[in-house]
Amino acid sequence: MNYLPIFLDLRDRTCLVVGGSETAARKAELLLRAGARVDVAAPDLHAGFARLPHADHLRRVANGFSPELLDGKDAVIVVEEDAGVAKVIADAARARHLPVNVADKPALCSFILPSIIDRSPIMVAVSSGGESPVLARMLRARLETMIPAAYGRLSALASRYKDRVRAAIKPQQRRAFWEKVFLSPVAEMVFSGRDVEAEAQLQLMIKDSAEQDISRGEVYLVGAGPGNPDLLTFRALRLMQQADVIVYDRLVSQPILDMCRRDADRVYVGKERDDHAVPQEEINLMLVRLAKEGKRTLRLKGGDPFIFGRGGEEIETLVEHGVPFQVVPGITAAAGVASYAGIPLTHRDYAQSVAFVTGHLKENTFNLNWEGIARHDQTIVIYMGLKGLPLLCEALIRHGLTAETPAAIVQHGTLPTQRVITGDLNTLPALAEAAQLKAPTLIIVGNVVKLREKLGWFQPEMHSDQAHHTPLDTPDSLS
Ligand SMILES: C[S@@+](CC[C@H](N)C(=O)[O-])C[C@H]1O[C@@H](n2cnc3c(N)ncnc32)[C@H](O)[C@@H]1O
Repeated sequence: MNYLPIFLDLRDRTCLVVGGSETAARKAELLLRAGARVDVAAPDLHAGFARLPHADHLRRVANGFSPELLDGKDAVIVVEEDAGVAKVIADAARARHLPVNVADKPALCSFILPSIIDRSPIMVAVSSGGESPVLARMLRARLETMIPAAYGRLSALASRYKDRVRAAIKPQQRRAFWEKVFLSPVAEMVFSGRDVEAEAQLQLMIKDSAEQDISRGEVYLVGAGPGNPDLLTFRALRLMQQADVIVYDRLVSQPILDMCRRDADRVYVGKERDDHAVPQEEINLMLVRLAKEGKRTLRLKGGDPFIFGRGGEEIETLVEHGVPFQVVPGITAAAGVASYAGIPLTHRDYAQSVAFVTGHLKENTFNLNWEGIARHDQTIVIYMGLKGLPLLCEALIRHGLTAETPAAIVQHGTLPTQRVITGDLNTLPALAEAAQLKAPTLIIVGNVVKLREKLGWFQPEMHSDQAHHTPLDTPDSLS
């Protein structure tokens, strides 16, 4: 984040605009709309100044800049083509710790003016930090169409009823109440100009909610997919933005966590291979406790919660304790990683079935039905197999696959740090070791791996700008 977005209260504050051009008039207009008084220093003023709202708050105070004009000001905007002159003014403002914006000269600015969508009191600001103003404007235009103009009236209605809601509804229930209101016909009524009806409906909702407990806790068991936020489901995203508390695993990437409700409590229960941060039974009971406290609890898991995710155990405990829950499937690593590696898991010519198996080693052995797995017409996807890779390959050969069976190991599938190493059952362990892969990794064995050469499409290096916040910061021990 290069800039911190903040909203300045400039009501009855005085700002200085240096410059009298049309652009200066537009900047002055913004300040006036925010309730500021505006002093302008310019030899003359463009005709646009005459058309500004709140003209009584605007005055031309000088022909040009002089440092004493900064006295008593709260912000400065400079519209000056000459970079040298602009710098002198910006430096003088900065020396007094005044926020300063210089039009078209981002290097001289201590603040930038974003594109705004004004649904006062709701304000949305969009900025590209000066790097791509056209993109920011396009995004703003898109948001304009998504946010009805009447949002301001809806917000004003909520504001008028704030105290009544406070008096009628318990603090821990209020957020859920307002969410219900904004998703209810009240909003639609305001948007279509039926404000009186909306107000009556809101009064009814306050009465009903005061009489019943609307804050029954619930658990959302949500699959977050293999790490790339683009692969979340709509439902996952909606629940991520509603939940009061987020209980998450190591495999949930930072960009995904960043999409959760900002002020939700976060509880990390990530597990490492030999060091269970929070034992599974404790996680199960934690979910019960949080829900019983009335919290909407998001249990966020990598991939799909029902595939090597112990989601079943967690909801079994919820059932035993009568806690309501819903399950949101996620894209499991096998599906996501195979797609991004260009390896179809089934193919008419090469594989008629696919087996998902765990390569987790217990006392140096695997608890697997090798006869069912080691078949030449089947693709085998091995989760958690990095550590046991040499033993896995050996066992597959021992149980009937040829040493030349194609095999791949994929690090950080779907993410900017994805790497794919291909070989066969004979060569893959050494290739993987030489590549010093980082977990999580997924192993794919079978003739379909040959197709990657033709079908590989994802070029992670193209996304290297995102690599710094990728994420699945998993230690090598957990494969
Ligand atoms: C405990 S399992 C959880 C699986 C998860 N529930 C799912 O459906 O994908 C963790 C294993 O999933 C695999 N995995 C998850 N995300 C991955 C990714 N982005 N790239 C490669 N493997 C991944 C790795 O084998 C990792 O050790």
